[in-house]
Amino acid sequence: MLTNLKLKNVGPAPETELEFSPRLNLFTGDNGLGKTFLLDVAWWALTRRWPHEVNPNLVSGYTAKPREPKQAATIDFSVVGKSGKTSQYTAAYIPRDEAWVGKAGRPTNPGLVLYAHADGGFSLWDPARNYWLKKGNIDVQERIPAFVFSPKEVWEGLEVDSNGNSTIVCNGLRRDWSRWIDQQGENKALMERVLETLSPPGETLRPGPMRRLSLEDARDIPTLAMPYDPAVPVLHASSGVRRVVALAYMLVWAWSEHLRAAELLGEEPTRQIVMLFDEIESHLHPRWQRSILASLFEVAKAFNDQANLQLLAATHSPLVLASLEPLFDAEMDAWFDIDVLERNAHIKRCTFNGSDEISNWLSCVTNVYRPYDQVFSEAG
Ligand SMILES: Nc1ncnc2c1ncn2[C@@H]1O[C@H](COP(=O)(O)OP(=O)(O)OP(=O)(O)O)[C@@H](O)[C@H]1O
Ligand SMILES: [Mg+2]
Repeated sequence: MLTNLKLKNVGPAPETELEFSPRLNLFTGDNGLGKTFLLDVAWWALTRRWPHEVNPNLVSGYTAKPREPKQAATIDFSVVGKSGKTSQYTAAYIPRDEAWVGKAGRPTNPGLVLYAHADGGFSLWDPARNYWLKKGNIDVQERIPAFVFSPKEVWEGLEVDSNGNSTIVCNGLRRDWSRWIDQQGENKALMERVLETLSPPGETLRPGPMRRLSLEDARDIPTLAMPYDPAVPVLHASSGVRRVVALAYMLVWAWSEHLRAAELLGEEPTRQIVMLFDEIESHLHPRWQRSILASLFEVAKAFNDQANLQLLAATHSPLVLASLEPLFDAEMDAWFDIDVLERNAHIKRCTFNGSDEISNWLSCVTNVYRPYDQVFSEAG
């Protein structure tokens, strides 16, 4: 779990400081104010790799660069590790190496980290598969540093270079889901359960019979049952449905592979899960936007009823904010709104009170939502 983040001379503000909450952390703000940037930095803090550095097929997640190259740039953060211990880390940007460098050695293990990128790509860091090795007395990072998928690789599979050999680390949604259906095993059932949990109320996504797509293509494609067609091939499904099916697949793949790896290591599966989710509402209709946040917490519990999920999500949707009304707990959750102040992005933590006015949902400064600082000063 990430507990705080402090940036100097990097990103859309000269200085940024955030204290995260243990459960939900929601980011709002106009285009270009640093929501995705903060998620990228959070991913780096948890895994020490920039997504684009791991997979250049990505068109986002680039290494953070300082604003003023001649001035010192730092990223400070604290992570609560698997053992419950908090560790603090400071990295400084070294221009010649184009890298963020801090204390050497094995980083704190944050548990399973999943990042759903805005364009449909995913990044995953698995404590059982990506954590450092010990060789003699020395910690070395000789494993694949993370699994970073472009949108196409989520569907078609991911091949990585590992110690000079090209290895298929994931078969991709189309092949894996077909295989899971053929095998009639646990993953088939888990995929169905996760799809059902992520579905909007009253419109459960259910698989239909497998179907061929063309004369030349010998592959059977998983389908979804729609009210107007009992077997829509998943490759023909709508953008919103594909976004959620891909999310369900990545979650099931990540969790089932984590279970297998933990078993091979003779370790307990992780209870800590951190999820970063950019533009959580993307492609979803309003009813779905109102259920997606709560569904993610349910999925984590379905994987492991002892799981603690910390979710950092960015949104432009008032309906995602509205969906928090019955859930928001100021002890467990936080809402950060980013605005422009004196030509810099300024992030503030807001109180969440709910509103009847939909136009007010995203604004931290209407009379319904008062800035956090103001509430503190009123309280004395
Ligand atoms: N790798 C990077 N290094 C340094 N600064 C960056 C980097 N990536 C983004 N930024 C800065 O962050 C700004 C905000 O970009 P970001 O993509 O985070 O906006 P956003 O709030 O997610 O917007 P949108 O809602 O349109 O997705 C950019 O204009 C740029 O100044
Ligand atoms: Mg963005």
